[in-house]
Amino acid sequence: MTEVTPQITPPIRRLWPMDQPAVLKHFLNLDRDIRHMRFGGGVGEGFLRDYADGILKVGSVIFGAFPDNELRAVGELRGLLDAWPVKAEAAFSVERAWQDRGIGDALVTRVIAAAQNRGVNTLNMICLPENRKMQHLAVKHDAVLQLDVDEVEARLTPPWPTPGSLAEEFSGEAQGFTQALLRWAA
Ligand SMILES: CC(C)(COP(=O)(O)OP(=O)(O)OC[C@H]1O[C@@H](n2cnc3c(N)ncnc32)[C@H](O)[C@@H]1OP(=O)(O)O)[C@@H](O)C(=O)NCCC(=O)NCCS
Repeated sequence: MTEVTPQITPPIRRLWPMDQPAVLKHFLNLDRDIRHMRFGGGVGEGFLRDYADGILKVGSVIFGAFPDNELRAVGELRGLLDAWPVKAEAAFSVERAWQDRGIGDALVTRVIAAAQNRGVNTLNMICLPENRKMQHLAVKHDAVLQLDVDEVEARLTPPWPTPGSLAEEFSGEAQGFTQALLRWAA
């Protein structure tokens, strides 16, 4: 009989510069296959350190999931300042032990909502052709997949922001910022 992994709903909040050490720890926890799927190739510690250093810069909105009170998964919305009308890119990573429990799906939902609230009209997710799980999640969230030889681009058109979507994100963000501060000060 196949074992069914129970789905969970972990706390998810926006990450801030004081979360950078936890972001680095998360990336270093990713095994070789996950790094390959996430970054499209084998990447070492030096690359991950540089990437974690730049991830929380202006023009990005990064979310983290804390299923056991530790940062175990990250959803990135990047490139917000690069173009108008706004195009952005999304990327996701979930540590092996926490995969297949609904965390990636929850982060995709969160990143799409953040894109909606920032007027993003095209959201791209790039993944490897063999990454069926990411493609499944993208299609589940109404993305159109474009297949290339060495990558698949998932393109989404988030709806326009509404007063409700803005209020929901920014009240949650204030609470998340307080949690980040408390964690940082601890
Ligand atoms: C892709 C990734 C973010 C998904 O996160 P996750 O927490 O494991 O995903 P979830 O548990 O939320 O959802 C997985 C979904 O894919 C489905 N799935 C699992 N394996 C699958 C496969 N081989 N083919 C198709 N669908 C698959 C599950 O049934 C589930 O579907 P459902 O939501 O309709 O029930 C995670 O696996 C990961 O970090 N992978 C490595 C990095 C990566 O690939 N990043 C994406 C490129 S930027």
